[in-house]
Amino acid sequence: MSAPQSQITIDLLDGSKAVAFAWGNGSGNAKKTALDSGKAALAAGIRHIDTAQGYENEIATGETLTAAGIDKKDVFITSKISGVKFESMPASEVRQNIENSIKDLGFSPDLYLIHNPFVIEPYSDLPAAWKVLEDLKDEGKLKSIGVSNFRPQDLELILKDAKHKPVVNQVEFHPYVLAHLQPVLDIHKKHGIVTAAYGPLTPLLGHRHPTGGPIKPVLARIAQRINSEEAGKGLPSGFEVDEIAVLLLWTRDSGVITISASGNRDNIKRLGQIAGLPKGLLKSEEMAEIEKVGKGVHFRRYTEHMEQDFPVPNLPDGTQ
Ligand SMILES: NC(=O)c1ccc[n+]([C@@H]2O[C@H](COP(=O)([O-])OP(=O)(O)OC[C@H]3O[C@@H](n4cnc5c(N)ncnc54)[C@H](OP(=O)(O)O)[C@@H]3O)[C@@H](O)[C@H]2O)c1
Repeated sequence: MSAPQSQITIDLLDGSKAVAFAWGNGSGNAKKTALDSGKAALAAGIRHIDTAQGYENEIATGETLTAAGIDKKDVFITSKISGVKFESMPASEVRQNIENSIKDLGFSPDLYLIHNPFVIEPYSDLPAAWKVLEDLKDEGKLKSIGVSNFRPQDLELILKDAKHKPVVNQVEFHPYVLAHLQPVLDIHKKHGIVTAAYGPLTPLLGHRHPTGGPIKPVLARIAQRINSEEAGKGLPSGFEVDEIAVLLLWTRDSGVITISASGNRDNIKRLGQIAGLPKGLLKSEEMAEIEKVGKGVHFRRYTEHMEQDFPVPNLPDGTQ
């Protein structure tokens, strides 16, 4: 396990532990400023970096650790096979691509994912591609292995003959995709696959969801309740809980690896503070209320293939 004792972790199926809260260098300004923002994220106390071949930031991820003077064993790293500029590849090219990833990072990441089922083409090569990850794990070249953006049919395809089940499926995850994701989450539960959330702040970012929808006032009320009851107890001095903090805590405390991002120093600092907040600040009835209200809306930021051959529920998008 690469996580320092101080971090909240989530147990994975293969016996290892993932650091529960991550900063990713694959989106927005975080992607453009991967090295400097990565250093800021580590300085803020974050100990899980999410990267991928497709972000073209694997080299910067390795350099971030060196520049920050932090030992690899103290930071959990996730990376993904995405091919060069997300160009798909047959299973025969997977081994070489993964070896390139490891070389660019400068180490074997703690968790390595197939970024998207469509990275592998033809689609029928997906089980053979998964077998390459299994072989590399057996050879000690990869540690934990998993997938990302896998729909029910993609999961079933590789689970059928898997020697090692994927330990994680990293998907867009927040209250407004819960209804759609239910069949995916059911498979996760059945097999012990941990969900990892990207895009967790989608409901609250105005450039994604214009109003915040019905979840926003619920999050605001919970933030107010925590601030009034926990100040001087469960919160660092001077730290005010806001809707963003509540949404990220809901995600993390749902047992989901939570991957946010920022290229803004103040926001990175806050993400570090949120990552360090204790478990259980949200009451179980508040956790349930967020889930219930979220399930009444369907809104996805990263549509891409997740809505192909995987019908969306007939729900409002929460913008009314
Ligand atoms: N597997 C996949 O296919 C996939 C797809 C997408 C993303 N990902 C991974 O997940 C990571 C996170 O994805 P995401 O960017 O969609 O996550 P997100 O948490 O939904 O959104 C991050 C955005 O929130 C803003 N933000 C953060 N803290 C804030 C605060 N306190 N106040 C206001 N705004 C705040 C940031 O803007 P500022 O920079 O302005 O702070 C950033 O643009 C990516 O970097 C990548 O590593 C994976």
